[in-house]
Amino acid sequence: MDKAPTLRDALHRPLRDLRISVTDRCNLRCPYCMPRETFDDHQFLARAEILSFEEIVRLAGIFVNLGVRKIRLSGGEPLLRRNIERLVERLARLRCLDGSDLELALTTNGVLLADKARALREAGLDRVTVSLDALSEQGFRRMSDSRFSPARVLEGIARAQAVGLGPMKVNCVVRRQVNEDEILPLLRHFRHSGVVLRFIEYMDVGGCNEWRPQDVISAREILDRIGAEYPLRPLEAAYPGEVSQRWALVDGSAEIGVVASVSQPFCGDCNRLRLATDGKLYTCLFARQGLDLRAPLRAGEVDAALAARIASCWQLRDDQYSELRHIQRRQPGRKIEMSYIGG
Ligand code: GTP
Ligand code: 5AD
Ligand code: SF4
Ligand code: SF4
Repeated sequence: MDKAPTLRDALHRPLRDLRISVTDRCNLRCPYCMPRETFDDHQFLARAEILSFEEIVRLAGIFVNLGVRKIRLSGGEPLLRRNIERLVERLARLRCLDGSDLELALTTNGVLLADKARALREAGLDRVTVSLDALSEQGFRRMSDSRFSPARVLEGIARAQAVGLGPMKVNCVVRRQVNEDEILPLLRHFRHSGVVLRFIEYMDVGGCNEWRPQDVISAREILDRIGAEYPLRPLEAAYPGEVSQRWALVDGSAEIGVVASVSQPFCGDCNRLRLATDGKLYTCLFARQGLDLRAPLRAGEVDAALAARIASCWQLRDDQYSELRHIQRRQPGRKIEMSYIGG
């Protein structure tokens, strides 16, 4: 039975989804997220600045008591965090906290997944979502600015599926004139595999990707291109506040999704909070400021006091960046980078 209270923000949205970034580092350099010009000389967080597993688990327990029902680990690249499966194991124990359901998922670029999949599953992870922006060697290298081969990511996906980390989802960020020619090859590859392929509109997240509206291919356009070859029919959302719109190929060979956060914003039922690697809490992916939880945590504050901080942060929340993008894009202050706050 679900005994957690429903905490509502200023726009009456419930808190349900917590995304925890476990490292600000990544083994890829996708130019839209960690361009080399900025990140090759970047000062990443020092060990002492990063929340320990104990600290993450303690905070996660408080969030679960406040109503969180899904925890997604992200980064940077979460599989770079040493012994990440030990963290999963401890988070999985929170399931029993008050008998409510808690879903544990992880978003990864897949490069290290083949080696980690089994340990993650055995530790209690439910699902993995893999980012893969291109199937061709050339396209993958261009999108990730790395020497890895997409074959390695595909192997990771296959291993994760084999150990039961499903339903697997693959996320592809679409950029005009960069990887738009990968949409159909990716779909052809994942049809009949059981993997849900999702296309994401390129967003103006962070401050270093020099985003321009003309680089976005809208979800509508993506669906039209796919629909011309594979007729589509819409599916109901799987749960309230789902980010992705679901579609099925009429021939039954696949489910796909589109994340239309630029062309059709979905702030109206956004139930997500984000805990960054250094313990700052952000109420929006596009936030400019976060609430520091690390200082009070390390100063010995008790759970009830930490819970009160988090609850009041959520209750005051009125973010709706994507809905107000035309106004908010021009506001002063630097937006935080995606690799630090998590996707
Ligand atoms: P499931 O539905 O549980 O599989 O996961 P999810 O779709 O919530 O998480 P995922 O990390 O796969 O998110 C998909 C993409 O949607 C991310 O890569 C982001 O680009 C985008 N996204 C996720 N949450 C938000 C959000 O709150 N706001 C905006 N604007 N975009 C988001
Ligand atoms: N726009 C859209 N999606 C992005 N991601 C990272 N940066 C952006 C952006 N600018 C995606 C990653 C991954 C997820 C965590 O976020 O590709 O799938
Ligand atoms: Fe790494 Fe993901 Fe950012 Fe690419 S999008 S640089 S894989 S964190
Ligand atoms: Fe939520 Fe902010 Fe994304 Fe809107 S822009 S859906 S408020 S995270």
